[in-house]
Amino acid sequence: MADLSVNFAGIKAPNPFWLASAPPTNSGYQIMKAYDAGWGGAVWKTLGMPTINVSSRYGATNYGSKRMAGFSNIELISDRPLEDNLREMREVTKRFPNHATIASLMVDTQAEWRDIIMQVEDAGAKGIELNFGCPHGMCERGMGSAVGQDPVALKAIVGWVMDAANIPVITKLSPNVSHIIDPGLAAVEANTDAISLINTVKSIVGIDLDTYAPYPVVDGKGTNGGYCGPAVKPIALHMLKDLAQHQLIKGTPISGIGGIETWRDVVEFILLGATSVQVCTAAMHYGFGIVREMEAGLIKFMDDKGYKTIYDFAGKALPNVTEWKHLNLKSDMKAKINEDKCIGCDVCYIACDDGAHQAIKLPTEGRIPSIIEENCVGCNLCSIVCPVENCITMERVDDGSEHVTWDELTLADKIPNTWNDDRAGGKGHYVPEPMEALVNKRKDRSGERNKQ
Ligand SMILES: Cc1cc2nc3c(=O)[nH]c(=O)nc-3n(C[C@H](O)[C@H](O)[C@H](O)COP(=O)(O)O)c2cc1C
Ligand code: SF4
Ligand code: SF4
Repeated sequence: MADLSVNFAGIKAPNPFWLASAPPTNSGYQIMKAYDAGWGGAVWKTLGMPTINVSSRYGATNYGSKRMAGFSNIELISDRPLEDNLREMREVTKRFPNHATIASLMVDTQAEWRDIIMQVEDAGAKGIELNFGCPHGMCERGMGSAVGQDPVALKAIVGWVMDAANIPVITKLSPNVSHIIDPGLAAVEANTDAISLINTVKSIVGIDLDTYAPYPVVDGKGTNGGYCGPAVKPIALHMLKDLAQHQLIKGTPISGIGGIETWRDVVEFILLGATSVQVCTAAMHYGFGIVREMEAGLIKFMDDKGYKTIYDFAGKALPNVTEWKHLNLKSDMKAKINEDKCIGCDVCYIACDDGAHQAIKLPTEGRIPSIIEENCVGCNLCSIVCPVENCITMERVDDGSEHVTWDELTLADKIPNTWNDDRAGGKGHYVPEPMEALVNKRKDRSGERNKQ
């Protein structure tokens, strides 16, 4: 059976499933309960300096039937007394010596960093995570994302920490930057042992339509929060990929965070180079029990593929993520409708006619639409909107013998350079005449509006 144990930059854990620094790791009680449920590690709710929290503090994007598709908070670092946290950390690390109990820290001056590092090491922490991510409150005091957005300051502080620490150091990055390589490289240049990302995305989740205050509302006012949960997973995967592919960063272990909820999410993060994962929103939504599905799913995936450890497949997707200019312009996909599955809802027709390339024709008889192959550009939209699983599939129709990229065309001086250039992609592709939008409105089902 697959061995899920990890050695992450010297921090050992029975599995790669760790709780991210957040409310689920606010106390020794919660962390012991989580370890008992099966989590392999936990990054303690950030410790630092005295703070005061506001009420209320969370907001959410509920989308369709999915509650908390995105989650937002304006909470600060731990507001509990440091002594209480340290006493409980000591108890947890004694009771669970083989778990990755990591202290997340955020302080200001070099002396404060030195002092708090000494205290968490004394409490038995297996590693330290530097919180350079909070995009609210703490950044207004020059910490959190204020550091994550300033590679020079970040490098200096990681340097202080590396001088003071005797246990592995993970630098947690903020996604609120335009180029994640800059802070990532600064952390590596300062000799961080590992990187984790992402912290929350600066956001406003909505406005109360009666009071005109942003959520979460605090006495009639609000502020930007930090966004997380399933909605941010694509951002996290992209930033993880950027770091894991970079020549000077790729040797540094990365803990993946952002929207992880299922074993599939875990596998995707590992395929893009993470060797541990951290979870916050999903644990807040569903509780610690979700780790059981993650564990069973990851083991089944690894057994099915013949992987013994997660290091056997960590980063395996990276060679397939390239720049747009290296994609094969000759690869040709067409949509195909499975008539046995189609329920005739017309959703694909509406999407393609209004939002894509007028490549779906409604039937003159019956309810099954059909694809007009010569109009279909293989954009995927119909297969994405179709409510029936695998009813519209995307089929490759070229024979794979031709391969040319934009980069190759550029080097060969063969890219289109005028609008009328015969080599331009959309030239000659059918589009209806504008006036056709206004006539035959009632004839949709006859298919007359579609080119035959
Ligand atoms: C309510 C809340 C409080 C958080 N507090 C912290 C914190 O104290 N320190 C920290 O590094 N990250 C904090 N985070 C960010 C999480 O650790 C994590 O990076 C982020 O939520 C993305 O993961 P997720 O999509 O699984 O929630 C917090 C997140 C939430 C929702
Ligand atoms: S793949 Fe795109 S262009 Fe082709 S039928 Fe579907 S929506 Fe239309
Ligand atoms: S969206 Fe899917 S189910 Fe609905 S008509 Fe199109 S192919 Fe059929």
